Amino acid sequence: MPSDYIPALKYHFLTPLYDGFIRLTMPEQKVKTRLIRQAGIQKGETLLDFGCGTATLMLLAEELHPDCTIFGLDIDSQILAVATKKVTLKNSSIQLKEFDGTTIPFPDGTFDKVLSSWVFHHLTTAQKNNAFREIYRVLKPGGELHIADWGKAENILMRFLFFVVQLADNFYTTNDNIKGKIPHLLEKEGFQTIEWKGNQSTLFGTLAFLKAVKSKFG
Ligand SMILES: C[S@@+](CC[C@H](N)C(=O)[O-])C[C@H]1O[C@@H](n2cnc3c(N)ncnc32)[C@H](O)[C@@H]1O
Repeated sequence: MPSDYIPALKYHFLTPLYDGFIRLTMPEQKVKTRLIRQAGIQKGETLLDFGCGTATLMLLAEELHPDCTIFGLDIDSQILAVATKKVTLKNSSIQLKEFDGTTIPFPDGTFDKVLSSWVFHHLTTAQKNNAFREIYRVLKPGGELHIADWGKAENILMRFLFFVVQLADNFYTTNDNIKGKIPHLLEKEGFQTIEWKGNQSTLFGTLAFLKAVKSKFG
């Protein structure tokens, strides 16, 4: 298991509290439902949740699109254990995999859509570059990446709230987000159409919704 990653709530001992913390502090259901709707998922598609955490987004996606094949990938085996329990309890057919931090364990062109919520602010710029390159590779031609993650602050209050998050968390993985650099990083790895699909104000700052499309020619 790779050691150079930031767990969901920064420290491993807090992982069992992740679901409760997010539910209490974030409009989680609203954000995840919006991301799934944004993805415009069609019957029978193959989906990947990158940085799936405790599987909440995938379970919601499965509820709304039971005919899709859904995979979840995360670098942290501890959070994957929580996800496995939830998936098993729901008798779900979601399949979970561990990420080695370098290669997404799927062949080129596997997925119609990749979804990801609250993940890329945990990654250094080099890790983001690698993740976007790998996501591009595993998407089918014309496939789409849909992201909900911290973005450029909409106003001074949102900037202040996110500054507090950066103090508690760190500056080195979150700066790309707050500086609005994610679209440039996506472009660098080959994504063609990159669209900002709106913001959501939260207790911790501005959450940005993005869509990035792989070329139809692969
Ligand atoms: C804040 S949690 C978000 C979890 C989930 N996506 C959600 O919306 O609740 C961030 C997740 O990113 C994962 N993560 C951190 N670094 C990663 C990396 N390099 N590759 C993949 N996942 C990573 C963490 O293990 C954690 O599960």
